[in-house]
Amino acid sequence: MIEFLEKTKLLSLHTKNTSYIMQVFKGQHLLHLYWGKRIAMTVRDVYLPLDERVNMVHSDPSDKSYHIEDLPFEYAFWGKGDFRSPSLSVTNGSGVIIPGFVYESHTISEGKPEIPGLPSTFAKEKDEAETLEIKLSNPGTDLKVILSYTVFPEFDVITRNVRIENLCESTVRLEKFMSVTIDFPPGGYELLTLPGAWGRERWIERQPVPHGVVSIGSSRGISSHQFNPFIALLSSGTSEVNGEVFGFNLVYSGNFVAETEKNQDDRIRLNMGINPGTFSWELKPGESFETPEAVLVYSDNGLNGMSGIYHNFYRKRLSRSAFAAKERPVLVNNWEATYFSFNEESLLEIANRSKDLGIELFVLDDGWFGGRDSDHSSLGDWVVNRGKLPGGIEGISRKIRKMGMKFGLWFEPEMISPDSDLFRSHPDWALQIENSPPAEGRNQLVLDLTRSEVVTEIISMFKLILGTKAVDYVKWDMNRPLTDVYSSALPSDRQGELYHRYMLGLYKIMDEITSAFPDILFEGCAAGGGRFDPGILHYMPQYWTSDNTDAVSRLKIQYGTSLIYPPIFMGSHVSAVPNHQVGRSTEIEMRGNSAMMGNFGYELDFAKLNKKELETVKNQVSFYKTHRKLIQFGRFYRLVSPFEGETASWMTVCQDNSEFILFYYRILAEANMPRSSVKLAGIDKQSFYRETESGDVYSGSELMFRGYFLPRFTADFQSVIIHFSSMESLD
Ligand code: GLA
Repeated sequence: MIEFLEKTKLLSLHTKNTSYIMQVFKGQHLLHLYWGKRIAMTVRDVYLPLDERVNMVHSDPSDKSYHIEDLPFEYAFWGKGDFRSPSLSVTNGSGVIIPGFVYESHTISEGKPEIPGLPSTFAKEKDEAETLEIKLSNPGTDLKVILSYTVFPEFDVITRNVRIENLCESTVRLEKFMSVTIDFPPGGYELLTLPGAWGRERWIERQPVPHGVVSIGSSRGISSHQFNPFIALLSSGTSEVNGEVFGFNLVYSGNFVAETEKNQDDRIRLNMGINPGTFSWELKPGESFETPEAVLVYSDNGLNGMSGIYHNFYRKRLSRSAFAAKERPVLVNNWEATYFSFNEESLLEIANRSKDLGIELFVLDDGWFGGRDSDHSSLGDWVVNRGKLPGGIEGISRKIRKMGMKFGLWFEPEMISPDSDLFRSHPDWALQIENSPPAEGRNQLVLDLTRSEVVTEIISMFKLILGTKAVDYVKWDMNRPLTDVYSSALPSDRQGELYHRYMLGLYKIMDEITSAFPDILFEGCAAGGGRFDPGILHYMPQYWTSDNTDAVSRLKIQYGTSLIYPPIFMGSHVSAVPNHQVGRSTEIEMRGNSAMMGNFGYELDFAKLNKKELETVKNQVSFYKTHRKLIQFGRFYRLVSPFEGETASWMTVCQDNSEFILFYYRILAEANMPRSSVKLAGIDKQSFYRETESGDVYSGSELMFRGYFLPRFTADFQSVIIHFSSMESLD
């Protein structure tokens, strides 16, 4: 997996289909030579023709044979003539940016170490991964930078992160510390990102990489609705099935940055890590600091190729939860059915109807605690409201379980309402700046998770409620970004550490609670999909994809999300019409077919459906339960993009190719439309497949290369879900 050739100083990382190659150049600079399709590299000496170039500096006056600005770095430093955006900026007591780190040594070991305090992917068996640590040192100080690479050959994945150790006698300050840097060779690359907003999360955007810097990221204290911590470079013209894709996903849920910089020679530097604009960190003598991990995926099979690798890896090696490998229940959530107005009776009525429809889990959303009858109060007062639930959480849970369903509960543990007993007794627990009224979001403030007493309080609250064993599922919400970022518990010169310390506090709580309650299924949420990232998914194996539950809007949201995250991670529910977010009315069939791509559920009042609709719901639940293993654990392929027209399609194929489901959606209809066809992907070309409902038989090659012909759609918002099984023989 990892090789070092002493003679040429080549360090090569190989996965099943890819290679990643570095070289120690001139005994000091660690260069990036290659990342892509698997190759054997024979280079004997140097990376470049060493020409004298005009108007460039020589960082090493004794060797004028090269210019530092010409070199492709594995990790880049400011100050000696590389003017591109650096990987690290660390200053000493005089304010000097410490320049130039050079190769010192490296080690190769089996397995993958954890990153203290941070979520990360993991190796299940020691021999399925190998880790390379490259130590860089600084000639003028005792600072060490350790670049860490883990290779997962069978998964075709490489992960990277970086540690800095201060072995000096004085304190230094980190101002920028990237998880990954790669200098790509010149080429016509496109940049793919997933921008969005509340209700419009993870839309796909592509653009040619321009000269200069393009930077995406978040400074909201959460990874955000606005950008996912993901960026990809694509060879020009890459499609779902063809072309080279270089994907980068950060296992982090706070402020991040991902930037490309195309220089004068058309080389592109890509940096990704904690957002330096909202970060600084004091590193005392003897201390070290580690960056979050970046997960790197290369595919030359287009975007579907990249997604397949992320999906497979994340399903198996990201979430620590015991539920990661288990089928997930079909749930009903009362939020859009009742909002804050409910009592035990009305909840039990929803639950009763749900049980008759085959639903397996009832989730009680916001409004069960304190005096919370609107979003104006009570966050922090996690004591059941006996007016609404006379028997408490245990009482309602007992009744729901008696019906044969599991019971789930909503929390928003990181928040505090100014109108709450918690705020009245601990006003200093909220993030706020003295003498400056805090900005409220949804009438609430954010708890200061940099304070250990706040972390302890949240952990005890969870232990008290979940310790009753009345809860089978937790929805963990987070409904506003961080503002007024000041903590009276931190000294004035360490306020720049707050955003990252908040994440460390949050991860500590998540780690402790999810480990203490391994039998509880946790689902993440942040005003919909505002923190849908691998950091949270490490602790919680599913996430509420978006507050926008409209069947048509969800096509784009789920399509974009599927670029990185597998369908089993995506909470996806059928809700009422007219839709509460966009006002659109679609039939129950379309809503079910759209939601059925992911982790399925309902979020409406069944009492408002007619008999025919209820029959349809029953069939949907039964279809989903019959095929959920295939939907939740199959290989997923995008076929037609809703970003490009009025249709969308995808499919999921079971791991042994023996069955698959095709999903196809028509958004707006046109008059007199012909039948359309769609070419399938990922099935066995040699096999024959029978369409379950019609009994029609097709060859795999015919479905992939000629296509499947759909029924004619004659109205808006129509869809089909078609199940096929492979046949033993043609007779
Ligand atoms: C957020 C969530 C919703 C719901 C509400 C409750 O907006 O995304 O699903 O739980 O909070 O207040």
